[in-house]
Amino acid sequence: MSAPDPTPPAGHPTRRRDLLGIADLGPDVAGGIDEVMELTDSFVEVSRRPIPKVPALRGKTVASLFFEDSTRTRLSFETAAKRLSADTMTFSVSTSSVKKGESLRDTVETIEAMGVDAIVVRHGSSGVPRQVARWADAAVINAGDGWHEHPTQALLDCYTIRQHRDSLAGAHVAIVGDVKHSRVARSNVAAFTALGARVTLVAPPTLLPPNLDGWPVEVSHDLDAVLGETDVCYLLRMQRERMTEALIPTLREYTATYGLTSRRADRLAKGALIMHPGPMNRGVEIAAEVADRPDAVIVDQVRNGVAVRMAVLFLLLGSGTEWGGDGA
Ligand code: CP
Repeated sequence: MSAPDPTPPAGHPTRRRDLLGIADLGPDVAGGIDEVMELTDSFVEVSRRPIPKVPALRGKTVASLFFEDSTRTRLSFETAAKRLSADTMTFSVSTSSVKKGESLRDTVETIEAMGVDAIVVRHGSSGVPRQVARWADAAVINAGDGWHEHPTQALLDCYTIRQHRDSLAGAHVAIVGDVKHSRVARSNVAAFTALGARVTLVAPPTLLPPNLDGWPVEVSHDLDAVLGETDVCYLLRMQRERMTEALIPTLREYTATYGLTSRRADRLAKGALIMHPGPMNRGVEIAAEVADRPDAVIVDQVRNGVAVRMAVLFLLLGSGTEWGGDGA
């Protein structure tokens, strides 16, 4: 992963921080993740209260700017903002003036002019949240950009794993499936390895990035060979909407070789976790009945996402300190 850019964007010499990728958690990424995890513990407790709301971000406004479909991330950020007593503003491309040809920059500047403190951005193109951060004074949070990053997904995944095994240090995580098109895989590799996990990417060569130089991972093309030695089996969705060519012979053959069937899930070590960022293609990368097993923590991932995003919003808008406490 590249180091965070220490240079503030032009025109914003004293601007607040953004969360565009895992590297933005600070020079000590593990410390930055720990900071989010500790705060998440508090917000998990808040979320369990009869009235799961605190006044931490009263007076702040969080805008959601989603140019791609989402169920979990969008609702999770909106719920998180509301539980922190922030006002929310939701932008839907399909009912916006983007349909009349308004540019991304004009859209961002229009939303900013209404007075927002944070903009949560999802876009199909890698790098759009960084571009938005150059234009906006508000804090920008990447809710998934192209194949690039999805940092809050990685943070909620780290939190979910730590709920079950205390630490990722020494854990063996197999990330299985369409790594090539996966922003989740990129953020998770950065976060998991920063916390000391060993990561193996399991996929056919056509579903791996063409160049893995600098990725701190092992690679396998044989799911059956790694199943018995994994602590976390992290399945990725086949992202057919991002495929411009046929990368697998058929879905049936993919499932036969890389799908987590019941037979394969039975071979996982005792205590191993089955994870998926969602949305799932039941019957493709994960058998329908496997997704509902007790060792599948997919619903926990979604539940934890709200508290993790509360922590991220609070750290960006509420505390005034830097990730990792570097005070820069
Ligand atoms: N995991 C995830 O990003 O899901 P959504 O696309 O539903 O937000």
